[in-house]
Order: sequence, then structure tokens, then C-alpha cells
Amino acid sequence: MLSLTEKKVLQTAEKGSGGEKKVLVVDNNPVMLSFMNNLLVKHGYQVTTAEDGVTVLKILETTTPDIIIMDLIMPNINGEKLCRMIRRMPRMKNTRVVILSAVAAEYKTNLVDLGANACIAKGPFNKMSQRVIETLDKLESSSAYDFKDEVVGLEETNSRDIVKELLFVKKHLEVVLSSISEGIFEITSEARIVYANPTAISIVGIAEEQLLASHILDLFHEIDRGRVDNLVNNISGITQNTNDDSFRLINGKEVSLNVLPIHDVEKKSVLIINDISDRRRLEIELRQAHKIEAIGTLAGGIAHDFNNLLMGIQGYTSLILFDMNTNHPYYDKLRRIEEQVRSGAELTKQLLGFARGGRYEVKVVDMNEIIDKTSIMFGRTKKEISIHRMLDENLWAVDVDRGQIEQVLLNLYVNAWQAMPNGGSLYLETANIVIDKGYVKPYSVKVGRYVKISVTDTGVGMDEKTRERVFDPFFTTKEMGRGTGLGLASTYGIIKGHKGMINVYSEKGNGTTFTVYLPASKKEVIKEETVPIDIMKGEGTILLVDDEDIILDVSCELLEMLGYKVYMANGGRDAIELYKEKMSEIDLVILDMIMPGMGGGETFDFLKSMNHDVKVILSSGYSINGKAKEIMDRGCRAFIQKPFQINDLSDKIRKVLD
Ligand SMILES: Nc1ncnc2c1ncn2[C@@H]1O[C@H](COP(=O)(O)OP(=O)(O)OP(=O)(O)O)[C@@H](O)[C@H]1O
Ligand SMILES: [Mg+2]
Repeated sequence: MLSLTEKKVLQTAEKGSGGEKKVLVVDNNPVMLSFMNNLLVKHGYQVTTAEDGVTVLKILETTTPDIIIMDLIMPNINGEKLCRMIRRMPRMKNTRVVILSAVAAEYKTNLVDLGANACIAKGPFNKMSQRVIETLDKLESSSAYDFKDEVVGLEETNSRDIVKELLFVKKHLEVVLSSISEGIFEITSEARIVYANPTAISIVGIAEEQLLASHILDLFHEIDRGRVDNLVNNISGITQNTNDDSFRLINGKEVSLNVLPIHDVEKKSVLIINDISDRRRLEIELRQAHKIEAIGTLAGGIAHDFNNLLMGIQGYTSLILFDMNTNHPYYDKLRRIEEQVRSGAELTKQLLGFARGGRYEVKVVDMNEIIDKTSIMFGRTKKEISIHRMLDENLWAVDVDRGQIEQVLLNLYVNAWQAMPNGGSLYLETANIVIDKGYVKPYSVKVGRYVKISVTDTGVGMDEKTRERVFDPFFTTKEMGRGTGLGLASTYGIIKGHKGMINVYSEKGNGTTFTVYLPASKKEVIKEETVPIDIMKGEGTILLVDDEDIILDVSCELLEMLGYKVYMANGGRDAIELYKEKMSEIDLVILDMIMPGMGGGETFDFLKSMNHDVKVILSSGYSINGKAKEIMDRGCRAFIQKPFQINDLSDKIRKVLD
């Protein structure tokens, strides 16, 4: 038997108040769905039904309903979220959304804010039918139906404490989920996403409306899909932690995964993802730094002894060559020895580079000028490659050790040239750049102004395996005798020593770019003319301080040959005794930095306490972590790197004395 109201409803249906309008009804209760379907069809509406939010999103891909009637509490995507999402779709702007809920009396969310157009409380079917039709009519008749958050039919329901409590718990969980730093997904047994918290959304970088209902595997890089699939389909139903493993997302980020089965009837799971890209990069950086530090200490020690040895060979060769006629039968052979010493010194320079010990003479320089000079010189001998310079005219200055930075550039040029055996192009580019927090995070450099230098070649490029190891000391892919694998290790050390950073971009077969960032200077460039150095004789008295007899002997002879009177001191204490005695006579002190007992730094401070204007040239084969620079900053006039050439020595002395 039909009740009176139902009869009335049927009569209206015959009139067809629905006017063929498209209605989508969403409710997880099948009884409710079939009831609503019957009711609305009778009233002339075209009805589609859906049991959950995921299905709704699928339907909305192809249709735009005039009206959507939805429940608030539903599994997977709930009514509130669904409503917000619909309101974000421009296509749905004329669609009326009606909330039909059993918890309307307890739900404390502002429905107007959600974008709903009406709200009806679920109640006894006969009364509810009436309310639904009336509300739809009302929405129909006025284009600007003024919805003020009132719930229709509330008088038939009573607020229930248990529902209030459950809703409160739900709210509480929502706040927690949206504020934690882990990304959380909830997925169905078919691995479709039905929930994603804000962190998850930001990690994958895909809008929520696209994310929900999509397949979880689609978020991952092809190569990792198999592994992810195994995890989410884990039959044993136990929690799977992969914190030590990483999975790559399609947006390139690396994440760790935890899969927790919910054990509900629908066999859903929760997926926790953590962005570990930064951590990975830091780990690699740190490992690199440790490796370089360890080998650097060793290399520094070797370089020191080796440079002293070379100094002896270089010195005596210079002495013999000094007054030797060029057509003497040994002249060419001795020149050869000098050349060999120079290559030996180049090698120790590379070693010093990654021992970070070679930053002695820091000056304010213009990188454009250094790049111009070095690349023109380099290009002269390498006709098969064409060099293109794109240098920023307003480039900021940098504080660098010129010799070291030239070495960096040369290492990069030589590598580029070797990567282009059949010729190609070398692009050199400079630019000013401000590095901000976001960029700098994975690297250990400060934020601020930097000068960026990139060196790009069109050569053979590198595969990933090579790229990961290029900065490793002694890593080379070149045949025996051609490469030592020190070039980039040294380059890396030098750039780190300058508080800068270097990175590489390369693909096999597609060339390579090395990018160097150096902190910009606060000062202006001081122009310095570099004239080719001739041997310049002079006069005056020099106190020579070193702990090695052979260095003392050979340097003493070199200095005497240049016309100077020399006092020799074996070590710091000796030097101070001698200086006390002959202070008035001594014009200049050449002081070795690393000596047993009283070292160069301490000796310098003593000398300075005796005579504030003492002129000192610091000399060394090696300096640890900017120690030379510290002493230089305390008032040394110049630095000379062992092994030195006689013309270099004569030039430095004249510059200090004149
Ligand atoms: N521009 C480049 N193109 C392709 N591969 C490069 C490039 N630069 C470096 N590499 C790769 O990195 C490796 C290490 O370079 P690195 O300069 O440290 O050593 P090397 O050139 O082999 O030897 P060395 O510089 O000591 O003579 C090279 O062997 C090469 O495989
Ligand atoms: Mg190299």
C-alpha cells in the first residue's frame, strides 16, 4: 500500500518536474541508492548512481551532471572532499550539489564554505522523499537560491553523542594527517588512490583531483614499478618497510616506502612515503668529502716532501744552466731535466689541489679575464676544437687563488678536449647568480651571491656510472699513461677550498657540462699587469730559513748568484738568534713554513715582535687548510711555492724590496 505522501509524489512524477535533468547520486548504501533512483526517475530525472568517490571522479570525466546528491560519510573519498574537488573543476560551476546526510545534525562543518547548495538530513523515507523533491524544485526555480547553511528536515532527527564523538575523532585524525611530514596514501585493493595527505600531494607534485582514483604505480618511474607492485600486492598482508631502499617517482624524486595493510573487508592499504632525495644527495656529498679528506692528508704529505726534492733538482739545474753556453753539449739535456721537474711540480700541484692546501695568494679577480686568457692560450694548440665564449659583461668579482683557478679551468678544458677526439665545440659561459635556501640545501655552501662558470663540450659524454665517480681521486677511464684521474679530484678540492661548488651534467653521446659556483667578492677587482719575468739581479742581505740542508744550500747559491748576501738559519730558533744579531743588516727573510720545532708561523710572529716592518717571503711545498693564507694575512709580503724557478724567485724578491 502506498502512503498518502507517496501517492502525491507519484502524481508529481507524472508531471515530470525533473525535466530530464541529469542527477548523479552518491551513497555507499545500496538501499539508499535504489530508493533515490526510483524516486528521481519517477520525477523525470535522468539518474546515475555511484557508491563511492572514486567512481564519481570516473563518471565526471565524461559527464557534467546538473545536480549531484551526495552523502557526507563515505569510504575512500568522503563527501566533504568530493564537494571541494567538484568546486575546483570549472566545468562544474553550474552543477548544484546537495548534501544528503545522516549526520547532518552532528556535522559541524560550514557547508556553504564547501560549495554545497543545499543540505538535507536523512530521515524516514516518506518524509525524506518529499524534502528531496521540494529542495530540487527550489534549486530549480530560483537561479540564486540563497543557501544559508540550514539543514532541511533536521526536526525529524536528534543529535547523537556517539556520532558527534566519532566525527570529532575523524576531525582530529584529519588534522594530524594533514600536518605530518610523511606522505600518506590510502589505496584500494586494485591499488587506486583514495586518499592523499598534503605532504603526499606535494612530494608527487600532482593535483589532488588528478591523483585520487589514479593508479599508485603510475606515480613511479618505470624501472621501479615492478618492485612497488610486489609491495602493494603483498599477499602475506604484513607491514613492509623499505626505509633503506629507494624508489624513484616520475618527477625524479627518490622516496622510501612503507606499506601497511588495513585488514578491512575491502583490503585497503596505507602507503607511507618519505622524500629521501636530499638525504641521498647529502650522503653522496659526505662520502665524497670524507674520501677526499683522507687521501688529501696523504697526498699533502707526499706533495711536501716531493716538492722539496724537486726544489733540489730544480735549483742545481738552474745553477748549472745559469752560466752555461747554449751550445754546450749538456745544455739541452739540462733543459730536459728542468721540463721534467716542471711536470713533476704539475703533478704535486694536482695533489695539493684536492688536499686543499694550495690556496695561498687570494686576490680579487675577474673570472672573465682569467677565462679569456686561459682559453685563448689553450685554443692556440688545439685547432680541432672551436671555443665559444659567452661571458657576462657585468660579472661580479671573486676572491681566488689565481694559480689554482687557472688549474681548475685547464683541467676542465683538457677533459673536454679529450672527450672530443674528432673535434667539436667548447662553450665557456659566465653569469651572476644568487643562490637561495631552496637551491643550496643539498650542498654544503652558504646562500648568497655567486659567480657561475660553465664549461660545456659536445663530446662523448658519460653514462651514469662514470658520472657518479668523476670526482673520485684516481678514477679515470683513460688508458694507462694518459690520465691519472687526478684532474677532477683536484678541481673538486680547489673549488671546495674556495667555498664554492661544482657539479656535472652529462649524457652518453650528448656532451658534458661542468658548472662551478664561486662566492662573489665584496671588493672590486684590482688590475695587475703581468709582465714576462726575466731574471733580475739585485743587492741586499737575505736571511734564508729552512730545515732542510739541501734546500738551504741550493737556495743560498741561487740567491748569491742573483747578487744577494745570504745568512742561513736551520730552523726557527736559529733564525731568531741570527735576526737578533743582524737585524739592522737584514733586508729580507725567506721563511719556510713547515719546520719541526718552531714552525714558520711562530717564527714569523717572533720576527714581527722584534721588528714590526720585517719583510718576509713565505715559502713552502705544501700548506694545510689555509695555514699559509693565515700567515700571509698577518703581514707576510709574498708567497713562493717550492720548487721555484730562479726567475720567479728574483721577481718576488725585487717586488718586495723595491
Ligand atoms: N668532459 C668530459 N667528457 C666525458 N668524460 C669526462 C669529461 N671530463 C671527465 N670525464 C671522465 O671523468 C674521468 C675523470 O676525469 P679526471 O680529469 O679526474 O681524470 P682524467 O682526465 O682521466 O686524468 P687526468 O685529468 O689526471 O689526466 C675521465 O677519465 C673521464 O672518463
Ligand atoms: Mg682530466
